Amino acid sequence: MVIKTTWVRYLMPLVFLLISVIVVLVYTQFEKTDIAIVKSSQSSKGMVVTAHPLASEVGLDILKGGGNAADAAVAVQFALAVVYPRAGNIGGGGFMVYRDSSGEVTTLDYREKAPLSASRDMYLDTNGKVIDRISLDGILAAGIPGTVAGLFETHRKYGKLKDWSKLVEPAIRLAANGFHISALEARRLNDNRDAFIKFNSYEIPFVKNKPWKEGDLLKQKALANMLRAIADHGADAFYKGQNAASLDSLSRVHHGILTIKDLEAYSAVWRKPIVNHWRDCEVYSMALPSSGGIVIGQILGMIDQHLQDSLGYRNIQNLHVILEAERRAYEDRATYLGDQDFYQVPVDSLLDKTYLASRFADFNPDSAGRSILPKATSRPGLESLETTHISIVDGEGNAASVTTTLNNNYGCKVWVPWGGYFLNDEMDDFSSKPGTPNLFGLVGAEANAIAPGKRMLSSMTPTIVEKQGRLYLVLGSPGGSSIVPTVLQVFLNVEAFGMNIEEAVKAGRYFHQWLPDEITFEKDALSPALQDSLSQMGYHLHPIELIGLVEAIYVDEANSLHGVADHRGDDHASGW
Ligand code: DON
Repeated sequence: MVIKTTWVRYLMPLVFLLISVIVVLVYTQFEKTDIAIVKSSQSSKGMVVTAHPLASEVGLDILKGGGNAADAAVAVQFALAVVYPRAGNIGGGGFMVYRDSSGEVTTLDYREKAPLSASRDMYLDTNGKVIDRISLDGILAAGIPGTVAGLFETHRKYGKLKDWSKLVEPAIRLAANGFHISALEARRLNDNRDAFIKFNSYEIPFVKNKPWKEGDLLKQKALANMLRAIADHGADAFYKGQNAASLDSLSRVHHGILTIKDLEAYSAVWRKPIVNHWRDCEVYSMALPSSGGIVIGQILGMIDQHLQDSLGYRNIQNLHVILEAERRAYEDRATYLGDQDFYQVPVDSLLDKTYLASRFADFNPDSAGRSILPKATSRPGLESLETTHISIVDGEGNAASVTTTLNNNYGCKVWVPWGGYFLNDEMDDFSSKPGTPNLFGLVGAEANAIAPGKRMLSSMTPTIVEKQGRLYLVLGSPGGSSIVPTVLQVFLNVEAFGMNIEEAVKAGRYFHQWLPDEITFEKDALSPALQDSLSQMGYHLHPIELIGLVEAIYVDEANSLHGVADHRGDDHASGW
C-alpha cells in the first residue's frame, strides 16, 4: 500500500506534466486554425473585418497587444497572404485609405508597376491582335509586386508597435504550422489544379495527389521562410538579395521580363485621396491609378438631383438613374483614366458639378441609353471574385480601409519556389489595345496604355466615409469592374435608403459598366417585375451568382463599431 502511494505520488506530477506538454504542443501546432465564422459584431475597442476568420483574429490580437489600425492592417495582409492565397499576397499590390484619429486622411498606393522592359504592344501578335490570355496566365502577365513595400511603408509612417517583426510573426506561424482550409478554398484549389501544374514545373504546396477537402491542413514552408526573412530584414528581403535573384532567374527561364532592376526600382507612394462630398458626407477613396474615387464621385454627382431616397433601392426610377450614371461614368473611365504620373488626366473637370450635370443631360427617364464603341467588343468573363478587402477601426479611432489583389485567382498562377508566393497577373488591367476588353470587360484607351514603370488602372475602391466630420463608414470589396458600384450601393443603402449596415451589405447588387451594354445583377437583386420593366425600357439583363464581398464597419453616434462581413463568402468580423 505504502509502495503504491509513493508510486502514485511521483507519477502523478509526471503525468500532469506530460499532459500539459501535449496540450501546449497541440495548441501551438493548430493555434486558432478553426474559428466559427462571425458575420456581424459590435464593439467599442476595435473591429477587424476580413475575408478570413484567421486573418481577422490576427488583426484583433494586434489591436489587443497595443497596436493601432495600421499595425493590424499590416499583420492582417501578411496573414491573408498565407490563409487566403487566391487573393491575399506578397506577390501583388494594393491600396490603403487611412484616417487617423485626428481626422486626417491619406492614401498609400502600392499598386504593381509595368516592368522596365514592358512595351505598349507587348501582348499583340504580328497582325496587331491581342494574343489570347497572354496578359493573364504565365509570368509575362506579372507586374512588379508592391505589397511588401506598401506594408513596410504603412508601418514606418503610422505603426505604433515599434517591432516590425511582431506584425509578420502570426503569418509565419500560420505558414509553418499550417491551417485547415475551408470548403470554398478546397474547391478553388481543386478548380485550379491543372493551371498550377501547367505553369509550375516544380512541386508546389497547392497540388497534391488527392483532391483537397474541407479541413485539410495546408502548410507553406517556403513562404514561412520568406516571411521570416521579411520579419528580420524588412522590405529589402523581398526587393533585394536572394528573392530578387530567384525571381529574376525564374523570369528568364519562363521568358518573362521581370528583373532584379525592376524590384530595386519599386516604391510605394503616398497620395491625396479623392474626396467626394455627398449630402452630409465626405466620401474618401483612392485617387489614380485607381479609378475608384473618380468613378464613385462622378456617379454620386450625376444621381444627386435625381435620386428619390424615400422610394427605396428597388424602385425602378432610382435603379434607372443609378444605372445610367454608371454607364456614363464607365465611358469616361475608359476614355480618360490612367496613371497620372504618365498621362494627363482632367480629374477636376471630370468631377466638376457643371460637367456632370451636362453629362447627364441626355438622361431619358423612360428608356435605357446606349453604349456605343466603334468596334464590337466581346462579353467579358466575370470569372472570378478575387482581390480582397480589409476594414479596421481601432480603439483610438484610427481607421484603415485596404484593398489588395493578385488580380485573377492566384494571379498568373506562377508560384515563386524560393519565396513561396504567387505572382500577380495585374498587367491585364492595362489596355493591351484600345477597344479590346480585359478580363472584366473593361476597355481603355491611350491613358491606360502600357509603358515601362507605369501603374495599370484599377477599380479597387477602399473607402472611408465621414458624416458631419466624424468617422462613419469603412468599406470596400473585390470584384474587378463591379467594385465601384458595390461600394456605392452599400453607401447609398445606408445613407439614402435608410438600411442598417447588415441590410446594406446583404442587399442584392447590380451594376452597369457601359460595355458590355447590359445590367449585371445578382438574382435576388431584381424581382421578376423589375426585370420586366427594365427590359421594356431597353436594358439587356445578365444575372450572375454573386457580386462583391464587402467588409464594412459602421460607426454609430455613440462611437460603437458595427462590423459586417459579407455573407457571400467565408468573411469574418472580429470585434473587441
Ligand atoms: O485592380 C483591379 O481593378 C483588378 N485587378 C481587381 C481584380 C479583382 O477585383 C478580382 N476580383 N474579382
